[in-house]
Amino acid sequence: MKSELYEVSEKVQLLHRLRRLRRHESLRLLLRETRLSQSDLMYPIFVDHRLSTKEEVPSMPGVYRHPISGLSDEIREFAALKIPAVLLFGLPKRKDAFGSEAYAPDGVVQQAVRAVKKVAPQLTVATDVCLCQYTDHGHCGVVRDGKVENDETLALLSRTAVSHAEAGADIVGPSAMMDGQVAAIRRALDERGFDETLIMSYSAKFASGFYGPFRDAAESTPLWGDRRSYQMDPPNRREAMREIELDVEEGADIVMVKPALSYLDLIREARNRFSLPLAAYNISGEYSMIKAAGQRGWLDEKQVTLEVLTSIKRAGANIIITYFAKEAAKWLREAGQ
Ligand code: PBG
Ligand code: ZN
Repeated sequence: MKSELYEVSEKVQLLHRLRRLRRHESLRLLLRETRLSQSDLMYPIFVDHRLSTKEEVPSMPGVYRHPISGLSDEIREFAALKIPAVLLFGLPKRKDAFGSEAYAPDGVVQQAVRAVKKVAPQLTVATDVCLCQYTDHGHCGVVRDGKVENDETLALLSRTAVSHAEAGADIVGPSAMMDGQVAAIRRALDERGFDETLIMSYSAKFASGFYGPFRDAAESTPLWGDRRSYQMDPPNRREAMREIELDVEEGADIVMVKPALSYLDLIREARNRFSLPLAAYNISGEYSMIKAAGQRGWLDEKQVTLEVLTSIKRAGANIIITYFAKEAAKWLREAGQ
């Protein structure tokens, strides 16, 4: 016996039925608007000058600090996945007030770049350019009277970038949030003939709580205070656009929004406003949250990871920097995409 309600719904004449678009998988595949590919990804790698065997980062399951000598194996595995780029972070053998290991010619990143380029010359190698892993106080620049000095820091960031370029880096990525860092680095690179080295600027980098696991991995927690006098205030959208605008004027080749997930609106806005390639950093805390919940069986790690990475691409990012790069590349390959 039909209910009254059923009778009513049977008479409905709908011109538009969007469910027609979702009827089965091949149709969904055909109509999919955003396709995540392993070629969108950049994989961050931690290299530790003090290690002889790799060590897992406790708060980032599946992420390791590698000894320089272990990089070739890591990179060979990597090449098979067809991920185009890596981003190198260094942990030095010693720290000091001026972060001198950051720009030492035989520093950890400089050696790592050479090692990676030797096994995989075709792989794009990017480096993080900052002082926080190298300074004994853990701030991203030179400290005077309890204050992070902007202009004095520029010279050290430039030296670091030049030393990475000398080692063979394709891209240098200044992440210190010092004013004028892109201009200073561009000038220093060009003066020494590195006019082909790209600058990927961490343009809109926010003072985020999601960096927690990274600081654990990179041992870069500031000894005192925090980074709020140089990293951006999370509520600020217009200021983020100004940061990007200035980096474009200063000569950045690629601009970045970081973190990614809580800032998808800014990724979209930057994509609409600027024509440069745009990177988004799916940072450590965004990784650890999914890993932790996945390990507890609280959510499906594969489904959620691909959903998150795809949403970052849908928001407008052209390059997604993510600790999930290797797993995502494997999943995408299995899915035949
Ligand atoms: C340091 C730097 C940070 C990250 C990249 N470079 C963290 C910070 O500012 O403390 C964060 C990466 C991540 O959380 O995955 N300049
Ligand atoms: Zn830093």
